[in-house]
Amino acid sequence: MAIEKINSADLSVSTLQLIECAKKVMSNAYNVYSHFYVGAAARTISGKIYSGTNVENASLGLSVCAEPAALLLAISAGDPEVIDMAVVGGTSPDTKGGRVATPCGRCRQIIYEVSQISKTDIMLYCCNPDLSEILRMTISDLLPLPFGPKDLGVEKEVENYLGQLRSTISEDKK
Ligand code: THU
Repeated sequence: MAIEKINSADLSVSTLQLIECAKKVMSNAYNVYSHFYVGAAARTISGKIYSGTNVENASLGLSVCAEPAALLLAISAGDPEVIDMAVVGGTSPDTKGGRVATPCGRCRQIIYEVSQISKTDIMLYCCNPDLSEILRMTISDLLPLPFGPKDLGVEKEVENYLGQLRSTISEDKK
């Protein structure tokens, strides 16, 4: 796929909802060091949306980006099959215009890993704070030639993880 500029009028209600979730959570950013706000929302095949924001740390390198914050919630909920994500970022949630926020390199690698669990080339909607600019792309657009489970010969383990998770969930329902 190619990276595409999208008009919000052309988005489905469910994609707009995903973007709104990312926009909403960015106000909760713990960003006392950078004062940069990021919200991310990840939707799984179940239709649930998990949102996360950036959480900074005095030991600057330990700061957590919004994208993994959202993805960790999905995985921790036992619902890791992410199909699409929205990312909204900027110097303030109320900024008019501004640049579109796209995932940093580390986040791209983390999103790629989750795409291997969901076996989906995760679609990303990257937005500026007032949502006047939206870019649509997939994780493979953002991270060509990725390093992942296949390189370490663990594709089967990734598949087994999902299988085990599903059997645990159906056991719990009994
Ligand atoms: N940040 C994210 O949350 N996601 C990214 O992909 C890029 C950067 C956060 C980390 C830090 O809290 C702030 O933005 C400035 O780098």
